[in-house]
Amino acid sequence: MLPSGLFSLAVYLGLVSATATGVLELPAELYSPLIAQKVLKTAQSFPNPAKYPQYTDRVAGDWIWFPPDVWTTGFFPATLYAMHERANLCLANAGDATQWLNLGRTWATPEIPLEVNTSVGHDVGFLSFPFLDELTVNPKNETAIQAVNAFANHLAARFNPIVGCTRSWDSADPTDFQVIIDNMMNLEVLFASEKLTGNHTLRDIAISHADKTMVNHIRPDGGSFHVVEYNSTTGAVISRHTSQGYADNSTWSRGESWGIYGFANMYKHTKKYDYLETARRTAKYFITNIPDDGVVPWDFNAPLVPPRPADSSAAMIAANGLFLLADQELSVLNVTGAAYYTNVAIKIIRDNTQLAWAPSWQSLLSNGTVNNPQHNNLTGIVYGDYYFIKAGNALLSRGLAHC
Ligand SMILES: *[C@@H]1O[C@H](CO)[C@@H](O)[C@H](O)[C@H]1NC(C)=O
Ligand SMILES: *[C@@H]1O[C@H](CO)[C@@H](O)[C@H](O)[C@H]1NC(C)=O
Ligand SMILES: *[C@@H]1O[C@H](CO)[C@@H](O)[C@H](O)[C@H]1NC(C)=O
Ligand SMILES: *[C@@H]1O[C@H](CO)[C@@H](O)[C@H](O)[C@H]1NC(C)=O
Ligand SMILES: *[C@@H]1O[C@H](CO)[C@@H](O)[C@H](O)[C@H]1NC(C)=O
Ligand SMILES: *[C@@H]1O[C@H](CO)[C@@H](O)[C@H](O)[C@H]1NC(C)=O
Ligand SMILES: *[C@@H]1O[C@H](CO)[C@@H](O)[C@H](O)[C@H]1NC(C)=O
Ligand SMILES: *[C@@H]1O[C@H](CO)[C@@H](O)[C@H](O)[C@H]1NC(C)=O
Repeated sequence: MLPSGLFSLAVYLGLVSATATGVLELPAELYSPLIAQKVLKTAQSFPNPAKYPQYTDRVAGDWIWFPPDVWTTGFFPATLYAMHERANLCLANAGDATQWLNLGRTWATPEIPLEVNTSVGHDVGFLSFPFLDELTVNPKNETAIQAVNAFANHLAARFNPIVGCTRSWDSADPTDFQVIIDNMMNLEVLFASEKLTGNHTLRDIAISHADKTMVNHIRPDGGSFHVVEYNSTTGAVISRHTSQGYADNSTWSRGESWGIYGFANMYKHTKKYDYLETARRTAKYFITNIPDDGVVPWDFNAPLVPPRPADSSAAMIAANGLFLLADQELSVLNVTGAAYYTNVAIKIIRDNTQLAWAPSWQSLLSNGTVNNPQHNNLTGIVYGDYYFIKAGNALLSRGLAHC
């Protein structure tokens, strides 16, 4: 890693030239006081027994609540930790840091039984987010250490050495081994647990999974398949298709954004050049397929008529993936590349915030697509809001925004 002073200088140089072309104006909504107000209001209405917001209805924008054993449960507690981080970066923007930390801990606690009994499969990686956050605050928190290790072992137990991947979704026929691009996001918990325990098998599993995904999910044009099915007894690819996208050979935008983030993260952990190159290819596909209006569609190949719904969550995930990719470019002293991805990420945030900022909704953003084949579009989404706040934090922590 570069010293942070050099990082700021390098990115700053890129910013100067971009500012001249007017690309870089940050959207004011990124630091709106409404963020803390809305998140606090939701946080203070914690249901008993515990339930978690996942997405909103399409009209009033009110949260719809789910029981803990669902893949999205970690995002709202992690949002509270992100507000804690925000308050530390910029007190004026988020208020009392201790309050956010206490709320994050309160909301994470009902997740603990899921360590031993969950049906979310590979998504234990997402469930681990608030505990990974807790360890950045208190690295000695035994509850969080145990949670991270338990979730990592749960994911590792889904690894099949013949296929070379962790299984994403369970299926009636156990030889039908399904892996989705989203699973790239769940590998982080393996690296985190390796760091805590020294168990390098966890890293080997993450690398094997990423290598297979790189070869079998990512197309030559940098787009991605949502689902690859393997035969678990032979390791052969049986089929490539979609579940949440428009067509079997289309590129579902949220899957592509998970890919950018996931491969940039793999490069961060391994310094294996193929991952950097794959992150660049997926980023290039994402960036070049955004239409002129800047709005990220739910699927890059969905027909234009009738108008295709946006997915603001894909936009915000991609922006965070591009910030992470920019960090990796800087680590190989590629200042031009770092400035380029930073600027594109800001433009994506700006264009999609302009579309989706929803002051009267409970969520921060509208225009999320949860699952278009299931007709669930035009909603707020908990992970869209989470990555929106994280993007604001990323800019503050890199010295690219000030409060
Ligand atoms: C440790 O983390 C757990 C779960 O996030 C939280 O409930 C607890 O308050 C934390 N304990 C300490 C001592 O920080
Ligand atoms: C696991 O959780 C499910 C509901 O989430 C519950 O029905 C079941 O009884 C639990 N099993 C055990 C062994 O605790
Ligand atoms: C390391 O992790 C793997 C995967 O969870 C597990 O099978 C193995 O027993 C662990 N090794 C040790 C020494 O704990
Ligand atoms: C996987 O291969 C085995 C052995 O050839 C076969 O029996 C099984 O039906 C295959 N499973 C799938 C899902 O294709
Ligand atoms: C997907 O396949 C269909 C039918 O073969 C074809 O018309 C379409 O152009 C393909 N789309 C992409 C994005 O490759
Ligand atoms: C954005 O959301 C608004 C409100 O739901 C809707 O009217 C509009 O069509 C959406 N735009 C896109 C591109 O999805
Ligand atoms: C810097 O990053 C850009 C964007 O990814 C890439 O096209 C270029 O090849 C990189 N340059 C070097 C020297 O690695
Ligand atoms: C959006 O969802 C609605 C149902 O909620 C569905 O009727 C519509 O077809 C979807 N829009 C598109 C363009 O797929």
